[in-house]
Amino acid sequence: MKNKKIYGGLALLLIVVAVITGVIAMSNRNSDTPNTKDMTTNAVATNAVVIQNYMFSPMAIKVKVGTTVTWTNKDSVDHTVTADKNSTDAPSSMDIAQGKSYSFTFKKAGTYTYHCFPHPYMHGTVEVTN
Ligand code: CO
Repeated sequence: MKNKKIYGGLALLLIVVAVITGVIAMSNRNSDTPNTKDMTTNAVATNAVVIQNYMFSPMAIKVKVGTTVTWTNKDSVDHTVTADKNSTDAPSSMDIAQGKSYSFTFKKAGTYTYHCFPHPYMHGTVEVTN
């Protein structure tokens, strides 16, 4: 009789601990989410991006409205600069061959994320401010 009470109490305690652990795990996961925000905060102030080794470098840049950004491909394969969200305000290149460049003038403030069409794992960001 007495043991039953103790076991019941222990079971309840274990459930409480499990729930608290779950809540902590979930809140940790949430605090990891704004990674993209950190990425744009670390954006480099430049208007030149090099495409090399299947990467845009710097991966995140920041410019003022009216700036022309130039991407230069140093890889032997073609790459593109393709806005994730297609719009006339966002860059959209044809294939950029080795040694060739593509330029786009940003006329509207905003955060533009882009990728390479043949290699969608290649990502970049342009932060445009007034
Ligand atoms: Co590519």
